[in-house]
Amino acid sequence: MSKKMQITLNVNGTRHELLAEPRTLLIHVLRENLGITGPHIGCETSHCGACTILMNERSIKSCTVFAAQADGAEITTIEGLGTPDSLHPLQEAFREHHGLQCGFCTPGMITRAAQLLKENPDPTEEEVRFGMAGNLCRCTGYQNIVKAVLAAASEINTAKEAAQ
Ligand code: FES
Ligand code: FES
Repeated sequence: MSKKMQITLNVNGTRHELLAEPRTLLIHVLRENLGITGPHIGCETSHCGACTILMNERSIKSCTVFAAQADGAEITTIEGLGTPDSLHPLQEAFREHHGLQCGFCTPGMITRAAQLLKENPDPTEEEVRFGMAGNLCRCTGYQNIVKAVLAAASEINTAKEAAQ
């Protein structure tokens, strides 16, 4: 067994200090050490996007990153985007537009979409499809996911205009 390393992760606003082997993947630390089970493990080979999280303002697939590489990082998971009482506009839109069925892909989809809308607040349908291409869904056929992301973009932009 290799020597464990001391790492610090700031997840959803909470600082965690823990020990992890150099080979341990970030998704495993999140789920198994910290009990943050929103990000899912689908393929573990960077194809499905179920494990998508935000790390230092970028969306990443947490099965492709060693926990040690995330030392000191600011991380947001689906748990940090909204709460049951105050859903993120994307969570609301996925519910409203039936953007999920089994829900396995949904935490990764929504987290990826949050970053997409940050980088491109008013995307076209084609841009949403391109931007979400790294996240796979076995259930929905994608139509309602795209609809939900576009609806959330419009909702966020309307709220921003109203606040000006
Ligand atoms: Fe990470 Fe599939 S579990 S991309
Ligand atoms: Fe089932 Fe996407 S809703 S995998």
